[in-house]
Amino acid sequence: MKFVLASHNRKKLAEMQEILGELGVEVVLQSDVGLDLEPEENGTTFAENAAIKAMAVMQASGLPAIADDSGLCVDALNGAPGVYSARYGGPGLDDVGRYRLLLENMRGQLDRRCRFVSAICCCFPNGDRVEARGECPGTLAYAPKGEDGFGYDPVFQPDGYACSMAELRPEEKNAISHRGNALKILKEELRNYYADK
Ligand code: IMP
Repeated sequence: MKFVLASHNRKKLAEMQEILGELGVEVVLQSDVGLDLEPEENGTTFAENAAIKAMAVMQASGLPAIADDSGLCVDALNGAPGVYSARYGGPGLDDVGRYRLLLENMRGQLDRRCRFVSAICCCFPNGDRVEARGECPGTLAYAPKGEDGFGYDPVFQPDGYACSMAELRPEEKNAISHRGNALKILKEELRNYYADK
């Protein structure tokens, strides 16, 4: 069974292949099947955006498609940046600019609770959908630490750890991350889906 990943990101491909490979699923990038889609992510939830991306790639390829949408939700900011995590502060900012803006917007705030969230959606050509959601709870640091990871990792301290997500090795991050958790749930959902067929 081949799944087309609605992304250009080879790191995501490797993460998904590692976990879904156990089900005999082969995951390929959309560019590997000749697609170059950038569907507009105009949903208001992670699940909606994941479904928009997976549906667009499934319709264009005629193959089962998989997509994820993720971000950081900060309790004291009513869940912001949330689905706007990649666009927080507008198009002029890079990852460092975005987490600096977030720290600035949280200046003086003692409630630092936050979570990474990942929603994953698989769309099948017969109209079926299999979905999963994963979270990784933590606190927002006061200053960045660490060189690994990407995005908001340097300012995110996962619960139970005394370091930032950017100080963890990739295997350690994958074992606790929102995407890792969503993928583990998805694997069980897909196992049930195929068992019912
Ligand atoms: P997307 O789901 O790939 O569009 O990612 C959305 C945005 O959320 C990214 O650009 C990052 O800013 C943030 N994000 C998602 N997952 C992570 C993560 O594992 N670490 C740090 N930032 C993340």
